[in-house]
This record gives sequence, C-alpha cells and structure tokens, in this order.
Amino acid sequence: MEAPIEREETDVSDTPGTIPPASLPEWRALDDHRVALDAFDLRTAFAEDPSRVERMSLDVVGLHADLSKHLATPETLGLLVELAEACGLRERIAAMFSGEHINVTEDRAVLHVALRMPRSTSLTVDGVDVVAEVHRVLDRMGAFADSVRSASWVGHTGRPIRNVVNIGIGGSDLGPVMAYRALRHVSDRDLTFRFVSNVDGTDFVEATRDLDPAETLFIICSKTFTTLETMTNARSAREWVVSALGSEDAVGRHFVAVSTNAAGVAEFGIDTDNMFGFWDWVGGRYSMDSAIGLSTMVAIGPEAFADLLAGFHAVDEHFRTAPIRENLPALIGLLAVWYRNFWGCQTIAVLPYDQYLERFPAYLQQLTMESNGKHVTLEGAHVEVDTGAIYWGEPGTNGQHSFYQLIHQGTTIVPVDFICFARTPNPLGDHHDLLSANVFAQSAALAFGRSAEEVAADGTPAARVPAKVMEGNRPSTTILTDEVSPFRLGTLVALYEHSVFTQGAIWGIDSFDQWGVELGKQLAARIAPQLLAEDEPELDHDPSTNDLIRRYRSMS
Ligand code: F6P
Repeated sequence: MEAPIEREETDVSDTPGTIPPASLPEWRALDDHRVALDAFDLRTAFAEDPSRVERMSLDVVGLHADLSKHLATPETLGLLVELAEACGLRERIAAMFSGEHINVTEDRAVLHVALRMPRSTSLTVDGVDVVAEVHRVLDRMGAFADSVRSASWVGHTGRPIRNVVNIGIGGSDLGPVMAYRALRHVSDRDLTFRFVSNVDGTDFVEATRDLDPAETLFIICSKTFTTLETMTNARSAREWVVSALGSEDAVGRHFVAVSTNAAGVAEFGIDTDNMFGFWDWVGGRYSMDSAIGLSTMVAIGPEAFADLLAGFHAVDEHFRTAPIRENLPALIGLLAVWYRNFWGCQTIAVLPYDQYLERFPAYLQQLTMESNGKHVTLEGAHVEVDTGAIYWGEPGTNGQHSFYQLIHQGTTIVPVDFICFARTPNPLGDHHDLLSANVFAQSAALAFGRSAEEVAADGTPAARVPAKVMEGNRPSTTILTDEVSPFRLGTLVALYEHSVFTQGAIWGIDSFDQWGVELGKQLAARIAPQLLAEDEPELDHDPSTNDLIRRYRSMS
C-alpha cells in the first residue's frame, strides 16, 4: 500500500517562476552556451565522447529515452536544469501536486494527477479527499462499463448495446478517440465505437449511417455541457434515437453524460443517475483519464483502464520526485525550450512508429498548443520570449514518404520525437523489424547526414552532389519502449503532460487556461443567426466578413 503523500504548502506568488526568464543569469548562460555551440557537429560530438549515448540516455518506468542525438551536450542539459531550478520548476511541481490554484486566470487547482492516484492514497484539497471522490466515480464507471460489456445494460427495446458513440470535442473527444485507436487490440471487438466531434453534420451522419438506433448508446462528453458542437450533435443524436424508436423514453437507455454540469445534463433530458462527473480542477485536455474516458473503459474494461491509470501514475511519481537532471518529462520539456528559445525552432514533430498511435500527434496538438500557446505571463505581462511550439506529426513510416524531405533537407530545423516499440501486438512476418529499421535509420540519417565527399564517392556527378548532401545535425529524441498497452499509453501521455508543464513553468505562463478560443466562439454565435435569418440581416462586421456572409446566403 502506498502511504498518503506528504504535501507541503507552497506560496506560488513568491517563487522564482514569476521572474521573466530571459532576465535570469541562467538564461544568459544558455545564450552564451548556444553561441559556443554554433559549430556543434553531432559526428564530432559522438567521436569525441564515447560515453555520449550513456550520458544522454534515461530509463524511466520502461521508457528508454535516447537524447544523444540533440544539438546539446551534457553541459547543455546541466545549464537547462539550472534554468529550471531558477524558474522554480520544483516549487511549481509541488504546488500542482498539493492542489494550489496554479491555473491563476481561472482560479483553479490543476489536479489531473489526482485522477490516477491509487485508492490507498489520499489528497485533501479545500477539505475534500479528492482521491476518494475520484475512486467513487471510477467505481460507478466500472459498474456501467461492465453492464454494457456483459449486455446487461439493454436498449429501449430490450436489445443489447452493440455500438457506442462518443459525442464531444477537443479534450472531450481527442483523448477518447486517441485512446480507443491506440488500445483497440485490447478492446471488446463485439462492440463498435465511433466518435463524433465536428458540428459539420457529415460527421454525425457518416458515424451513424450503418448503426441500428436500438443497439446504439451515446456518451455525451462535455465538461461544460454548453459547447455548441457537442450540444448540436447531442440534439441530433436524440432526434435520431427518438424518431427511430418512437418514444422520448428511449433517451434514458441510449444516452449517458459525462460532465461537471449536472444542471445542464438534466436540462438536456439525461437522468443525472446516468451522469458521470468530474471536477473543475481537471482541464479538458487533461481529462482522458477522468470520466471523459468512459468510452475507453467500455472498450477495454475496468481492469485495463486501471492499468492505463497506473501508467500515468508511475510517470507522475517520477516527475514529482526525481531530481530534474534525471527527470525525463522535465528534460524533454527543457529541450523543447532549448530549441524554441535558443535555436528559434517553431515546430516539433512527434512521429510514433506504431499504427495504434495514429491519433497521438493530434491528441498532443491540443495538449501542447492549447496549453502553451500563450502571450502573457502569470502576472498578465506580455511574455518576453517565444512560447509554445507547433506540434505536429503522423505515424511512421507514412511520413517518410511525404514530409520527411523537409525535415532532412529543408532550411528550418524541426526537432523530432521518435516513439518506437520493441514489440507489436500484431506480429506479421518481418513487418515489425522493417518498421523498426526505418525509425533507427531516420534518426541516424537526420543526425549524421551524408557529406559531399560521401555522396561523390558513390560516383554521383559533381553537378548533382549538392542536391544529395544531407547536412545532418537535425536533432531528435528516440523513445524506445516495449509495446502499446494501456499501461504504456498512460506513461506516454503523462510524459507529454509534464513536459508541457515544464515548458510553461520556464515561460511563467498559465498552461491551464484557453482564453484564445473564446472570441471565435462569440463571433460564431453572432454570425449563426445571420446565416439562418429568412430576411436579409443587418450586418455590422468588418467588410470582408459581411461580404462572405452575403455571398454564402446567396449561394446556399
Ligand atoms: O474550446 C476549447 C475547449 O474549451 C477545450 O479546452 C475543451 O477541451 C473543449 O473546448 C470542449 O469543452 P467541453 O468539454 O466543455 O465541451
């Protein structure tokens, strides 16, 4: 049994994290170090330091991370660690784990780490043991998931549920769909899972066109239960069920809700007995392991869901306790800062070499970009340094035959995270070794390239040599681990969550709000009635928007 975690009170306002990072001597030391690395060359670095791989690799809860192919030395990592210390990363971590309101602009605690704390632990925040609350909901989710999986939960006409449709968007969609795709090899294959997010009716129509309403259960996922896309899709789903089954009473057997807004759920017509709650201290993009993961639990079962949570928790504990120099999420986050602020890199590519992780890059886009795409500090001042990079990616090897050309020979440096697996759940001939050969080949090609002499030695005519030269010195992390499993997925997601946290702590920004999405929502709410109006509406937008609305109305 794990003991309750001792949590110290930390006064965030007093931490060094509130000092603009670029004014710190540790930042200036990194500036100087970066200049000293102008002529850095990975071939030379490896030749000069036979222990480079060992010194720049880490093994953390089954994740082997090779950081040796970075434009960095062990000294760089040391300087980044000093920056992290100066920015108060340790204090920020303690503040998060103790439930302080580190989401300052929304005045909320940030406690997704409590979602995966074992039952035997406790964490009291504002007088409430949140771990006990989490497990109460997990138990209800487990009973419900079992009842669907065992067909004891039946639809309105008495038929068992065969189809589960998750309706949600952003964090109420990306986590569930990513996790389902990643874990479908351990899912109940007798059940069909679909995910509807876009307010574009095509999404709903295509997701449901071959489903029988009598056998279909909708999980309406929305933290707020007000999101336009989700509520519109939920209403269409209700019409689809009620018109097919001929009674409003069908809603009770075909709809469950996941939300923090019980009143909104009841108003929509879903019995709150069929609602699974979570808390305002769970951000949407940090919620796949809360009740938002209900579809995941129905797919893989409560035990496998517990393994997923155990994977998250293992990395949480590592992040909470390991010294920064040995702290993998912190180092990955610090390297992201290194490239963003000291090399001017604008993007980071995440390239998983496993088809099951096909939606992992899309999931990470919300996690990273909604968290760290910020222009003000915790105090509301304009940031003095660049913040969040653009994250993007595709599963390997597909990307190799499309965008890798730019990563190899383009004029911009794109740091890459390769994620690869020693085993596959689907051994098929030599497929997996060929896949793995490609990921190792890509990281080597990026790092070491091919010089003009090597190209010429192949007999390439002199005029063709420049086009074939690979400059090398293209940085990458390689994460090599065992196999895609619930536990492993939990470790990978937590790794990125805490990398995001680390970056936000260095930049002194609020990684847990998302005010930038609001204006577009407000404008859409004004424009929608103007598109729907029978009579020509008075338009008071800018000339371009007014013109587009008029043209749309005349064309539709
Ligand atoms: O608009 C952005 C956002 O608020 C995300 O942060 C969130 O994950 C998504 O919308 C969905 O919100 P909800 O779960 O409240 O429907």
